[in-house]
Amino acid sequence: MKTVLVLAHPNMKESIYNKTLVEALEKQNYKNVIIHDLYKLYPDFNIDIKAEQNLLLNADKIIFETPVYWYNMTPLLKKWMDDVFEHGWAYGHNGTKLHGKKFGWILTAGASEQDYKEAQPQLPSLESCFNFLIPTIDLIGGKLLDPYIVYGAEYNREVKDVLPSIPGYLDYITK
Ligand SMILES: Cc1cc2nc3c(=O)[nH]c(=O)nc-3n(C[C@H](O)[C@H](O)[C@H](O)COP(=O)(O)O)c2cc1C
Repeated sequence: MKTVLVLAHPNMKESIYNKTLVEALEKQNYKNVIIHDLYKLYPDFNIDIKAEQNLLLNADKIIFETPVYWYNMTPLLKKWMDDVFEHGWAYGHNGTKLHGKKFGWILTAGASEQDYKEAQPQLPSLESCFNFLIPTIDLIGGKLLDPYIVYGAEYNREVKDVLPSIPGYLDYITK
C-alpha cells in the first residue's frame, strides 16, 4: 500500500512535536511512504496542482499531518485542498480520481485532551472541530479514518515528551 503523508507545518525549524515525529518516520526509510512537506515545497503558497494530483493518483492512503492552529488545520493545507480537489477531478461530473482512497489525519495540539473536554460544551472534543472532514472526504469518495492525535504539546516541550507518541504514529502511518 502506497502512503503519502501530506505534512503542513509552517515552521519545522522551531517545531518539537512534528519535527521529532517526522524524523522518526524518516529513519524508518519505509519504501511505500512518501513524506510530502507542503511548506517546504510551496513557501509562496503557489501550489503545482497537476503535480499534487499525480502524487495522489498513485497513493492508496493519504494522511494529513498538521499542528492545530486556532482549532483548525494550517492555512497551506486548507489551500492545498481548495486547489487540488478540483471539480471534474475529485468531485462532480467524472470527478472520481480519489474514490476508494483512505484519508487519515494526524494532529498535534497544544492543549490536553482534558482541556478540550472541559472547554466548550458545544464542541466537546478536538475531533468535533474537524467535523468538516466528514462531508469533504465523503464528497470525494474517500474513506475517512479515525485521527491520530498528540495532545499537550504546549505543556511539555521537550523531545523526550514526544517519544512515547512515536510507536503509535508509525503504526498509524503504516497499518
Ligand atoms: C497560531 C497558533 C494557533 C494555535 N492554536 C491552537 C489551538 O487552537 N488548539 C491547540 O490545542 N493548540 C494550538 N496551538 C498550539 C500548537 O498546536 C502546538 O504548538 C503544536 O501542535 C506543537 O507542535 P510543534 O512542536 O510541531 O510545533 C496553536 C499554536 C499557534 C502558533
